[in-house]
Amino acid sequence: MATATLSISFQNNARCEIFIGEGMLSRIPRRFFSDTSSIFVISDSVVSKLYGRKLESSLSRIAPSHSISFTHGERSKSLLVASNLASKLSDLGADRKSAIVALGGGVVGDLAGFVASIYKRGVRYCQAPTTLLAQVDSSIGGKTGVDTDWGKNQLGTFYQPEAVFIDPSTLDSLPRKELINGLAEIIKSAVIADRNMFDAVSKENLDSVQELKRFIPNTCRIKAKVVEADERERGLRSVLNYGHTVGHAIEAASKFRMSHGYSVTLGMIAEGWIARKMGVFLSRDYEKQQELLGRVRKNFGSELVINPNKVLAFARLDKKSSKGTIRMSLPERIGRMSRTREGSYMTPVSNELLLSSLGFLFQ
Ligand SMILES: NC(=O)c1ccc[n+]([C@@H]2O[C@H](COP(=O)([O-])OP(=O)(O)OC[C@H]3O[C@@H](n4cnc5c(N)ncnc54)[C@H](O)[C@@H]3O)[C@@H](O)[C@H]2O)c1
Repeated sequence: MATATLSISFQNNARCEIFIGEGMLSRIPRRFFSDTSSIFVISDSVVSKLYGRKLESSLSRIAPSHSISFTHGERSKSLLVASNLASKLSDLGADRKSAIVALGGGVVGDLAGFVASIYKRGVRYCQAPTTLLAQVDSSIGGKTGVDTDWGKNQLGTFYQPEAVFIDPSTLDSLPRKELINGLAEIIKSAVIADRNMFDAVSKENLDSVQELKRFIPNTCRIKAKVVEADERERGLRSVLNYGHTVGHAIEAASKFRMSHGYSVTLGMIAEGWIARKMGVFLSRDYEKQQELLGRVRKNFGSELVINPNKVLAFARLDKKSSKGTIRMSLPERIGRMSRTREGSYMTPVSNELLLSSLGFLFQ
C-alpha cells in the first residue's frame, strides 16, 4: 500500500496530517518533532511488546525517546491510570517541549491524548493507532477522555493530535475479534456517508484482514471531512454517533465486558430499528443494514445478558441527551443521515421506543 496523506484544518489554525502506509512506524517524518525536547511513547502492555521497539528506534533518531506502558484493556481508561501516566512523565523529566506519541488502540489514544491535553496544561502529541477501530475512527478528530463509574468518556477534552501515523501492517497481529470491532466503525461510516462503500463491504469476505485494510483510507476521509466541518460537535459531527447512544449504554451496562465495536454493532441494530419505526429510515435500506449487521453480530460469539432498564438509564446520561430526553442521529437511507425540521441531526427518542428497540435486539 502506497502512503496516502490527508490533512484536516481546524478553525484555530491547527492542522492534523494523516499518513496511511505499510511500514509507517519505521519512517516517522521528522518535521512533527522539530523543537521537541524529548518524545514519550505511551502504549499498553500488549502493543508495547509488539511495536514499541520499532517505533522508539524510529523516534530516537529524532529526539531522546522513552516508553511508558499500562495494562491493556478498557478498564485502564480511567482517571487513576491517567494520573499515574502523568506522574511517570514527570519522573522521566517530561517538560512543556516534550511530545507524546500514543501507540495502540482506542484506549491508548483516548488516554494518552487526555494526558497530553492536561500535562503541564498541554503538550504536543501524535497518534500511532494499531487497531482497525483506532485507524479508521478514534485516532482522528481529537476526542480524548476517560471512563468513570457513571459512564463512558464522561471526563475528557477536545485536543487535536498534530499527526496520525497509520501503519496497516500492525493489523496482521490483531486478534480477529478486534478486527470485527473496527469493522463496526467502517460500517457506521458507510451508513452515514457512503453508499458505495456500504455495498463494497457487504460483498466482502469479513474474515480477510487484507480486504478490510482497503477501507481504511476512505473511512478516514469520511471522518476527517466531518470533523473538519464541525470540530466541537455543534451539529454535523453528531452523525458519527450513530449506533453509539445505545452502544455506549450497552457497553456501560455490561461493565465494559462487551467491547466497543460489539456494543456499537448492537447499537446500530437498535437505532436502525428505531429509525424505521419512526418512519425515517427507508425500508429497503433498513433491511440491507440489518442483514449486514446480523452477519457481523454472529462473528462476536455469545452475548452477555444485559438488563434493558440499565441500558435505558445509561442512555439517559448520554451527553447528547437534553433535559432528560434521549436524542440520536438516525439514518434516512444508506449514505445519508436524517435532519429534523429545525435542521438538527439529533432526533428525540422516547424511553418507550428505546426499550422496545432493546426488546427487538435481545428477543
Ligand atoms: N476518541 C474517539 O473519537 C473514539 C472513537 C471510537 C472509539 N473510541 C474509544 O476507543 C476504545 C476502543 O478502542 P479499541 O477497540 O482499539 O480497543 P483497545 O485499545 O482496548 O485495543 C483492543 C485490544 O487489542 C490490543 N491490540 C492493539 N493493537 C494490537 C495489535 N496491532 N496487535 C495485537 N493486539 C493489539 C490491545 O492491547 C487491546 O487488548 C474505547 O474506549 C472507545 O470509547 C474513541
